[in-house]
Amino acid sequence: MPDYSVKTVQTKAFQDQRPGTSGLRKRVPVFKQEHYTENFVQSILSSIPGGPEKSTLVVGGDGRYYSPEVIQKIVQIAAGNGVSKLIIGRDGIFSTPAVSHEIRARKATGGILLTASHNPGGPNADFGIKYNMDNGGPAPESVTEAIFEFSKTIKEYKLVELPEVDLSKLGSSKSGPLEIEVIDAIKPYVAFLKEIFDFDAIKSYVHSPEVSVLFDGLSGVTGPYARDIFVNELGLPESSIQNCEPSPDFNGGHPDPNLTYAHSLVQVVEEKKITFGAASDGDGDRNMIYGAGAFVTPSDSVAIIADWADCIPYFKKGGVKGLARSMPTSTALDRVAKAKGVEHFEVPTGWKFFGNLMDAGRLSICGEESFGTGSDHVREKDGLWAIVAWLNILASAHDKGIKGIKGLLLDHYKKYGRTFFSRYDYEEVDSDAAAKVIKELESAFASSDFVGSSLSATSSSTSFKVAETGNFTYTDPIDKSVSKNQGLYVTFEDGSRFVVRLSGTGSQGATIRLYVEKYSKDEAEYERDTQEGLKPLIEVALKTSKLVEHTGRKEPTVIT
Ligand code: G6P
Ligand code: ZN
Repeated sequence: MPDYSVKTVQTKAFQDQRPGTSGLRKRVPVFKQEHYTENFVQSILSSIPGGPEKSTLVVGGDGRYYSPEVIQKIVQIAAGNGVSKLIIGRDGIFSTPAVSHEIRARKATGGILLTASHNPGGPNADFGIKYNMDNGGPAPESVTEAIFEFSKTIKEYKLVELPEVDLSKLGSSKSGPLEIEVIDAIKPYVAFLKEIFDFDAIKSYVHSPEVSVLFDGLSGVTGPYARDIFVNELGLPESSIQNCEPSPDFNGGHPDPNLTYAHSLVQVVEEKKITFGAASDGDGDRNMIYGAGAFVTPSDSVAIIADWADCIPYFKKGGVKGLARSMPTSTALDRVAKAKGVEHFEVPTGWKFFGNLMDAGRLSICGEESFGTGSDHVREKDGLWAIVAWLNILASAHDKGIKGIKGLLLDHYKKYGRTFFSRYDYEEVDSDAAAKVIKELESAFASSDFVGSSLSATSSSTSFKVAETGNFTYTDPIDKSVSKNQGLYVTFEDGSRFVVRLSGTGSQGATIRLYVEKYSKDEAEYERDTQEGLKPLIEVALKTSKLVEHTGRKEPTVIT
């Protein structure tokens, strides 16, 4: 008889296991330190509200390097903590939104997601572990803080020594005291999308002669999902998808769907004049929409989805209850909310802030500038959902004589005006230097004559009069929890603004994000280049924060 008794392993606590915007993210060698991963898994299990005993957890991730080893550790520690059942995606492959859906559909206790999202993978790149709750959404701060507190003083963890689980075989089995179900993580999710969207309309649209489609999985988790949607369901050729084999190191790439890192998509879309191009990130929750000569900013994307929601069966049936965006995301969505007469919310950066509003039935569609778009169908942002939403909308617009992505954008601008938006990222900046940039702005805000002063750009004759400044604080309308220091903002009298905040998702040094936004109702500007349109504002933001002086960075690492 094998020995299935619970073993207690003595450990030493680590002090750096505070989950960030989206779980704990560190380099693989950090996770590989003795006891490091085990400690964190034990801290998660011990912090599950209601305890780990008799729980059912969904487990999976983007298949990045080190995932198979960590899944086996989770199996053993779960067994040691009295978990009843683990539902694991085959080969550990499970997109983040599909995990969210599975938790909800199976009424599971929660889920453990193994991903560092859009960060590169590999032996010296990033790994991540995140806990999601029974509503399918990321754990709220009360739980992530409990996990952190536990991890700082942990002295032991519990496990049962079990034989390695074969993750390639579908089906249920008993592993010691634990039930394990390895499932096809693709089918239930794709079936769900088919309930949400009008696949017949999409199918006839994508087969119209002037339409061509290209999806790029960036070697992340969405590949098998995309093959099922685009090839099996919509009947498109294999050539309509690329980089759709999940790879532990994303084939050496950076699986982030933006104009810099999704270069493989941008290049083919431009070369072949593809009318509808799209990409998703490592774990499948982000998206980028990009047709030949037409890039959709995520801020416009969510506004357009909200505006056209009626053509999507899910919203036609359930209605649109409310709209929301993160604070740095452009205000384009607010104008749609006003026109439709629905509630709208501005939350801090982080998808977890949308969850309470959704659970309370006050939020249907939301988005972030960081290439995240989604709805209350799950409690994560959802890359493929957004991409299929766009196809559904384009199909409907096509019937109304509006042609392609560009036609849809121009139609939207004519109705609402255009919000120019861009984000500058300064990655892996020295933490002290980043703190100086924040201090610089805080002391500018503290001076009594800053509001009302005019900030001028030397490259043009433009100047901006400061209307308001602040550090964004959010009070959750549902549970009244307060989140402070969520980003410094300067709003100008013409409605333009810039925002500076430090990223909560980096794994090395600090990342400074600078967001700039300008609104225009001048039709002559609707086709203008974004960077040109925003130049004076960026100059003013850099000057006020003394970013170049403090960091020594003349150029950002990434512009989106
Ligand atoms: C993740 C989160 C998003 C967030 C993004 C950027 O994708 O799920 O909610 O907007 O990271 O966060 P950061 O703190 O790095 O700006
Ligand atoms: Zn992601």
